[in-house]
Amino acid sequence: MTGIFITASGTEVGKTYVTAAMIRGVLLKGGSPRALKPIITGFSPETMMTSDSAILLNTLGQIPCIETIGIISPWRFGPPLSPDMAAAFEGEEINHRAVIAHSLGGLEDTAKTTLIEGIGGVMVPLNKTTTVLDWIEALKIPAILVVGSYLGTISHTLTAINALKSRDIPINGIVISESEESPVPPELTKTSILNFTLDINVLTLKRGQPDDETCILLSDLITLD
Ligand SMILES: Nc1ncnc2c1ncn2[C@@H]1O[C@H](COP(=O)(O)OP(=O)(O)OP(=O)(O)O)[C@@H](O)[C@H]1O
Ligand SMILES: [Mg+2]
Repeated sequence: MTGIFITASGTEVGKTYVTAAMIRGVLLKGGSPRALKPIITGFSPETMMTSDSAILLNTLGQIPCIETIGIISPWRFGPPLSPDMAAAFEGEEINHRAVIAHSLGGLEDTAKTTLIEGIGGVMVPLNKTTTVLDWIEALKIPAILVVGSYLGTISHTLTAINALKSRDIPINGIVISESEESPVPPELTKTSILNFTLDINVLTLKRGQPDDETCILLSDLITLD
């Protein structure tokens, strides 16, 4: 199976942005991508057309509606909070085994390249006992770590790398998605991160829509050995 898990050093750093760019890259290379965003918080029927799930479906050329969003995002919660809290506010608890089973189901079609967008950062709790890290580990697929270029990102990034490595999760690449408030060009952040992670590919992504070449470069990370 060809699958990749897109995780991050935190929320709002660019997972959906990078996942969409990778989908475009796969399409440009003639592949057949599919995407899952199994858990989404801050979701409401009024704003669903701008949700992560809708962005991914649009990029795949599928029309977002409650049915198509329901298939790729079965766990949807209204409060814009971490999944454990958002579920608790709605009187629910996320069954992480069901989440893992849903993702594995998405990975079954070996003819497709499946991109799974996580939620928040690598150690966001899904419930009282499990975090995103347990979810990625169970899937046995590599991860892409999306990070920002804001002040403080280097420590967040190195901490996230350590967490992934502690579970032997292969990191196919780190993508530095330029933050709105960036004290230095992302290339400088890359240089600093590389001092500590020589064994990992690090790509930088400028603000704005990535061009075709960049999308292809990003998608090449999916099948990296
Ligand atoms: N390189 C970039 N250029 C321009 N805008 C960007 C870039 N990266 C992210 N953004 C914007 O920043 C915001 C957050 O990005 P995005 O939604 O991809 O983050 P996320 O990690 O998926 O967040 P969440 O944790 O909510 O899923 C979005 O409005 C997105 O369009
Ligand atoms: Mg997102």
